[in-house]
Amino acid sequence: MTTTKTLKMAMVGIGVGGAEILPAMEAMPEIDLFAGADINPTARERFKQRYPDARVYESIEKLCADPDVEAVWISSPNRFHAPHAITAAQHGKHVVVEKPMALSIKEAEQMVDAARKNNVKLLAGHTRAYTYPIRAMRKIINSGRLGRLKALHLMAYSDWMLRPRSADELDPNQGGGLPWRALTRLPCRSGYSAMFLGCSLPAMVA
Ligand SMILES: NC(=O)c1ccc[n+]([C@@H]2O[C@H](COP(=O)([O-])OP(=O)(O)OC[C@H]3O[C@@H](n4cnc5c(N)ncnc54)[C@H](O)[C@@H]3O)[C@@H](O)[C@H]2O)c1
Repeated sequence: MTTTKTLKMAMVGIGVGGAEILPAMEAMPEIDLFAGADINPTARERFKQRYPDARVYESIEKLCADPDVEAVWISSPNRFHAPHAITAAQHGKHVVVEKPMALSIKEAEQMVDAARKNNVKLLAGHTRAYTYPIRAMRKIINSGRLGRLKALHLMAYSDWMLRPRSADELDPNQGGGLPWRALTRLPCRSGYSAMFLGCSLPAMVA
């Protein structure tokens, strides 16, 4: 007999990206969408209206002080991914962090260290790599049916660059600007998928 444990999941940073993930969480019986935290009162209010039973906090610290929260989905702006992931790990919470995982290799290593030290799982949970078409491609590559993988040709188009952006999204020091908010969109989406398909990605976090 298999038993399924429900994971009490919380989200930090309930903005556009976070809201896109919520329906998938709702649809999973394994996940109890248990709490949310955001510094923006409007985001908190929206979340509370949508999930009246959920606990709502105004900071990651307050959220992580809740002993009942088991895992934290981090969809705050890029510059908070490392500090938020480390805070959550230090409080014994499992962590899923949105793309890009961190602003530097050093930050990423600190996140991994914090997860190891506190014996929690850490997943850079980009969603695209786990979609059915990519998984099917991986299966075909791994089967060797088409021979050894020699190159991948990746193409993606988005009008994201042309839409209005907030100041921090344009500041490289805050995890914004072309390298982080724009370029990482494509490498993260296509790149994580490429990594999943068996390529190494030396340039992705550079
Ligand atoms: N996987 C995907 O396809 C995907 C899609 C969109 C965004 N994202 C990622 O999600 C993250 C957020 O992007 P977005 O477009 O949702 O931005 P957003 O600005 O819409 O949302 C960010 C939210 O975080 C909150 N926030 C800011 N600072 C905070 C803090 N210190 N503590 C708690 N909450 C805080 C903001 O109030 C806002 O509600 C980014 O890292 C982005 O790369 C991923």
